[in-house]
Amino acid sequence: MSNAEIGLIGLGTMGAALALNIADNGFDIAVWNRTEATTQRFVAEAGALCERITGTQTLEEFVASIAPPRAIILMVPAGKVVDDQIAALRPLLGPDDLIIDAGNANFRDTNRRAQEAGELPFLGIGVSGGEEGARFGPSIMGGGNRTHWDRVAHILKAISAKYKGEPCATWMGQEGAGHFVKAVHNGIEYADMQMIAESYGIMRDGLGLDHGAIAETYAEWDKGPLRSYLIEISGKVAATTDPQTGQPMLDVIVDAAGQKGTGRWTAIEAQHLAAPIPTIEAAIVARNLSSQRDARTAGEALFGAAPRRLPHDIVTVSTLSKALIAGKILCYAQGFDMIAKASDEFGWALPLPAIAEVWRAGCIIRSDMLDDMADALRDDPNRNLMMAPNFAKILSNTHGALRHVVAQSAMHGLATPALSSGLAYFDAMRTARGTANMIQGQRDFFGAHGFARIDGGTDQHGPWGA
Ligand code: 6PG
Repeated sequence: MSNAEIGLIGLGTMGAALALNIADNGFDIAVWNRTEATTQRFVAEAGALCERITGTQTLEEFVASIAPPRAIILMVPAGKVVDDQIAALRPLLGPDDLIIDAGNANFRDTNRRAQEAGELPFLGIGVSGGEEGARFGPSIMGGGNRTHWDRVAHILKAISAKYKGEPCATWMGQEGAGHFVKAVHNGIEYADMQMIAESYGIMRDGLGLDHGAIAETYAEWDKGPLRSYLIEISGKVAATTDPQTGQPMLDVIVDAAGQKGTGRWTAIEAQHLAAPIPTIEAAIVARNLSSQRDARTAGEALFGAAPRRLPHDIVTVSTLSKALIAGKILCYAQGFDMIAKASDEFGWALPLPAIAEVWRAGCIIRSDMLDDMADALRDDPNRNLMMAPNFAKILSNTHGALRHVVAQSAMHGLATPALSSGLAYFDAMRTARGTANMIQGQRDFFGAHGFARIDGGTDQHGPWGA
C-alpha cells in the first residue's frame, strides 16, 4: 500500500494529463478510473513517472492508497457523474478527507455540492489550458473553504502555469467562486475566438487574402499588443494544409462551431445579474447560428450572397488589428464588470486583479494584455476597465478603427456580430443622456410603472392623456 499525497479519479484526456503533471512535479499520486483497462494503460504509458503513480483497481484500494487526511481530485464529466462519484466516494472517506471537483462544473452545482458537503471538505476548481495546459501548467481558479484550499495550494501552485515565476493558481472565494470565474473565462474565450473569426472573415472575404497571407498577418499581430495564445494558434491553424487534399485546412472544415456549454452559462448568469456582456452574448449567438447550416444555405439561395468584397484598401490589416484591440478591451471590460456584479450579488469578494493575474498564463485566453489589466484593476477594481487611464488611452486611439471596420463590414454584408456589439457597448457607455427615458415613458403609459424626473422626484407619473 503506498502513501500517495493526492488521488485523482478520471483518466480521460484532462485527468490523465493532470495526473502526469502532478507526478512530474514530484508528488506521489494514486489514480483510479471506472474502466480498469484505462488505468492499466495509463500506468504502463507513464514511463519514468510510473514510480510516483499508483494505479488502483477498486475505489476502496484507491482510497487506501492515499495518506490521510486525503485529497482527491475528480476529473470526470460535469453533471450527474460528479454527484454519483461523490456519493460513491464519501462513505469510504474520513471527515477530514477533501474532494476537489476539477471539471468544468456549473458553479451553481458547485454551490449546491458545497452546501451538501456541509462540514466535509469540498473544493470546486476551474482548470483551464486544455490538454497541454493540464500536462504542463494550467491556470487554476479555486473555490470553496479557504482552509481546504490552503491544504492543497502547494500542489496546485506547483503544477500550475507560471507567469514570470508567479504561479497561476489562486483561491477566488467560497463555494462555486472558482467555477464561476472559469465560466466567465470561457465566455471571454468564446468572444475572443469569435472576434478573431470575424477578422479572419474580413481578411478572407473582404480583402481577398489567401490563407498564407492570413497566417502571416496573425503571426505579425502576435508580436504586438494583440499577442496572445488565441492569436498565435489562429495563425497556425490558418497556415496548416490538409494532407488529404493539399488544400488549406480551414477550407475543409465545416463552418459550424461546437460548444460544451460553459460559455453559454456566462450569458445565462449575466442575465440573472443584469450584467451587460453584449460581446460575449454575440459570440454565443454566433456559435448557435453557425450550426444552422442548412438554413444559412437556403438564405443565401433566397437572398443571394452579400458582395462581402471590400473596395480596394478601404480597410487595411493595420486598421483591422486596431479594431480587434478595441473589441478585445471592450469585451474584457464587460467580463470584469460581470465578475464585479457577481461578487456583490453572491458576497464572494472576488479578487478582480488576481483574476486577471491568474489568466496571464496557462489558460486559453492568456495574453500580454492581461498583465496591464491586472495593473489597472489593482489601481481601481471598482472602475470599468475601459475607463482605466491606460485602456481609455488605447480605446481613444482605436475605437475609430473599430467603427470603420464595423461600418465597412455592414455596408458590404460581412457579418461582424461580436465586433459590432463591442462598438455599440462603447457608444452606449459614453452616452450620458441615452434613450431609456422613452422606455420609462412607455412603461408608465401602459402600466403606470412610474419614472424618476431629472429635476427631482421618484415614482412620478405622466399626464399621458388619450
Ligand atoms: C479551457 C477551455 C475548456 C473548454 C474547451 C471546449 O479553459 O481549457 O475553456 O475548458 O471546455 O475549450 O469548450 P467548448 O466546447 O464550449 O468550445
